[in-house]
Amino acid sequence: MYLSDEEQAMLDGRDGPGVQAAMDLLQRYGKALGAERLVATNNVVASVNATTPFMRNIAAQGGGMDAVLSEFSLDSDTVVKIPKVRTFTTHTQLGFDPGNPKSMGVDEATMHFYRQGEAFIAGLGVQITNTCTPYQVGNIPTRGEHCAWMESSAVVYCNGVIGAKTNCEGRESAGAAMLTGRIPYWGYHIDANRRGTHGVRLEVPVRTTADWGLLGYWIGEQVQDRVPVVHGLTSLPNLARLKHFGAAASSSGGVEMFHLVGVTPEAPTLEAAFGGQTPTAELVYGLAQQREAWDKVNTTGRDTAVDFVMLGCPHYTIEQIWEASRLLEGRRVHENCELWIFTPRAIKSLADRNGYTATIEAAGAKLMTDSCSAMSRAAPVGAKVVALDSAKQAHYLPPILGVQAWFGSTQECVDAACTGQWRGERP
Ligand code: F3S
Repeated sequence: MYLSDEEQAMLDGRDGPGVQAAMDLLQRYGKALGAERLVATNNVVASVNATTPFMRNIAAQGGGMDAVLSEFSLDSDTVVKIPKVRTFTTHTQLGFDPGNPKSMGVDEATMHFYRQGEAFIAGLGVQITNTCTPYQVGNIPTRGEHCAWMESSAVVYCNGVIGAKTNCEGRESAGAAMLTGRIPYWGYHIDANRRGTHGVRLEVPVRTTADWGLLGYWIGEQVQDRVPVVHGLTSLPNLARLKHFGAAASSSGGVEMFHLVGVTPEAPTLEAAFGGQTPTAELVYGLAQQREAWDKVNTTGRDTAVDFVMLGCPHYTIEQIWEASRLLEGRRVHENCELWIFTPRAIKSLADRNGYTATIEAAGAKLMTDSCSAMSRAAPVGAKVVALDSAKQAHYLPPILGVQAWFGSTQECVDAACTGQWRGERP
């Protein structure tokens, strides 16, 4: 793989052993991918902190967080001193909510380690945004900008909605990118790979957030890791709908790029979305397909007595928190149920000031940050039947926690939380 003089100097150790280890990793990674070169980036979304007991043990062996990052972010055989980051880097979600550690089964020692880790990475210059939705809290790249992002729901939003360019990076490649400002030039960094492969014609209205989640879930199953081009839209999706659509498509399949004709930046027309390529297939999404998606995503739901409701996957927008607080106003969460709502910590600050947190807590629910049930493998003790307004969370939570999952609208989920009963309707 070609290295520029600047990249070769990093590899030769000019900027110290941390940058050298990062460039070594990128060179190995790029060669394995068949990339011909690297590309410059100044926008990274990475998991940098450490919270697992295993990482705590590595830190305790003497090297501290330098040892954790050497092992888990740079794949280095030796402990190297980690320098300050070279790129704008925002942190992805964590393994738990530091505001509610007990609810998530996190002990005091882990909390202490977490705080030390957070101080360490903040000192490196990492923005401690702690969310799977960096685009909500200050990380909105420019169209065409080369990025190195982790987290599938964020990656598909970055490519599809914003029109910036990233592959789905891992902790190691994103960690190396933040120290060098480079990432292998392959996949969705290359324009030819961003063109549509499958047409999807809508023959049923797709309006609500739940509708968009179902559409994404169905498309992901059909196209897997290819590039769908959706046309025939009758209404314009907002941020929340686009977020739920992409997250669902990257869960049932591996979609990292999509086009919505007339909406997303690289699809002003159907022809532009395909860029001259002949579609591999032209799919139709009507009522039968919508029902098929609903049946799939509700496949584990059997008992109607619900004991846990989780909202905020991907992390809720302020508009969704406002909506949830209005749905909860003057109501109480049922005594046999708990309601957790997840959002970025920065948006919770806004919800606190707007009074939404108080309304949510007055109803007996929790507004939480930094993580989610799937990421933390955490639910209220004894929870067996969960209601969710996210197809992504409904896809992952049953295998992770062994629970039954119902998927429906936010209104249906809030009603389930307040009555303890699932009454969601099939489309
Ligand atoms: Fe985010 Fe957790 Fe969903 S990290 S995308 S809320 S699975």
